[in-house]
Amino acid sequence: MENIEKFVGEFARSLQAETFVKMTLGNYRGNDAHLQKLLVRLVETKRGVRLFFLFRQDTRDTAKNFDLEEGAAKIRESLGADFFSGHLFTLENDFQLDIGKRGKSRLNIAKPTFKTKPEIAHDRDKQTLVNQNSFYLKALGITTDKGEIRDKQQDKWRQINKFVETLGSLIDKSPLADRRALNIVDMGSGKGYLTFAAYDYFVNTRGIDANITGVDTKAELVSIDNDIAKACEFENLRFVHGWIGDYALEDVDVLIALHACNTATDDAIFKGIQAKANLIVVAPCCHQEIRPQMRAPEFLSGILRHGVMLEREAETVTDGLRSLLLERSGYATKLFEFVSTEHTPKNNMIVGTRHEKKIDAEKLNGQIKSIKEFYGIRQQRLENLLT
Ligand SMILES: C[S@@+](CC[C@H](N)C(=O)[O-])C[C@H]1O[C@@H](n2cnc3c(N)ncnc32)[C@H](O)[C@@H]1O
Repeated sequence: MENIEKFVGEFARSLQAETFVKMTLGNYRGNDAHLQKLLVRLVETKRGVRLFFLFRQDTRDTAKNFDLEEGAAKIRESLGADFFSGHLFTLENDFQLDIGKRGKSRLNIAKPTFKTKPEIAHDRDKQTLVNQNSFYLKALGITTDKGEIRDKQQDKWRQINKFVETLGSLIDKSPLADRRALNIVDMGSGKGYLTFAAYDYFVNTRGIDANITGVDTKAELVSIDNDIAKACEFENLRFVHGWIGDYALEDVDVLIALHACNTATDDAIFKGIQAKANLIVVAPCCHQEIRPQMRAPEFLSGILRHGVMLEREAETVTDGLRSLLLERSGYATKLFEFVSTEHTPKNNMIVGTRHEKKIDAEKLNGQIKSIKEFYGIRQQRLENLLT
């Protein structure tokens, strides 16, 4: 007991003297089957400097802030009850506490590992929305066994976080904002990075009762993803093998299609419109349908004779037409850059939010017709599907 008191006393003293660096409690023997460690550091919040507790679990992390006194009391309660070891780093010493089975304890005091105080993180600082320690990230090869982002996966990691942030914010600004349950379908889910991250975020971080289905034509990916979802106990996440165009989509609040190749994006948008999805979120790629049809007027030939310019123009026109067709179908649209080109060239995101307002279909039809005529476009898949 004496050693526990001494350890906690040194912790409190280091907070007062501002020499506290960080602390870890381990050797967990409490009732939470998933909890492994507690990592403690300081964080600057609107309410001042607080203790940031990161509860490291086997499949994910959870976090909580406490004021200094309250946090110190929690540590005192946990030591010898749930956690049986502690490692405290201050600028004066390192303290290593080990508590034996019969309450006998040992406290080692060593020279300080840290000579300077770490900068206090601000809670504004990017705490990623996606739990880096989640099992699915390991299983999908984004993180190492230690939970570090693999060098080659840094772009993917940024993209996953950006996607989750974007989707969360789009939902918050939509009529779905207050919904406690959401049906989400991810068309062309591929390896499932974004599908898993969305599920983890909505269900585990935001406590929303989300039901998510990924659809993909690659059977082996679907099978692996279902296994990983099971291993993570993500009960309402499932992956279905099949073509987007054949998928019987019924009850859907949010339809996602990220980088679904070429006209698969059109199939996905069409399915979303048909099923009256409240939110349709697509990031198109491989725009192959329009480019070979484009016959730009003579006065643009000096520009569009360059392949790269023609390609960009074809992308712009394709996504512009998709956006107008969504508007004609009763959706307010936004088109913006999703992830900067620095990370991936696939960077447009089209978002449609369903509304009940009157639509000026004649005006929209006129615009669509003029654009097609201007570029000599004979057909566009989404338009065909909607006809
Ligand atoms: C480039 S990957 C994108 C995966 C994931 N959405 C992402 O952004 O990380 C495109 C995926 O869409 C799938 N796909 C393409 N066309 C499809 C279709 N018509 N029906 C079902 N899946 C399709 C492919 O099999 C592939 O796995």
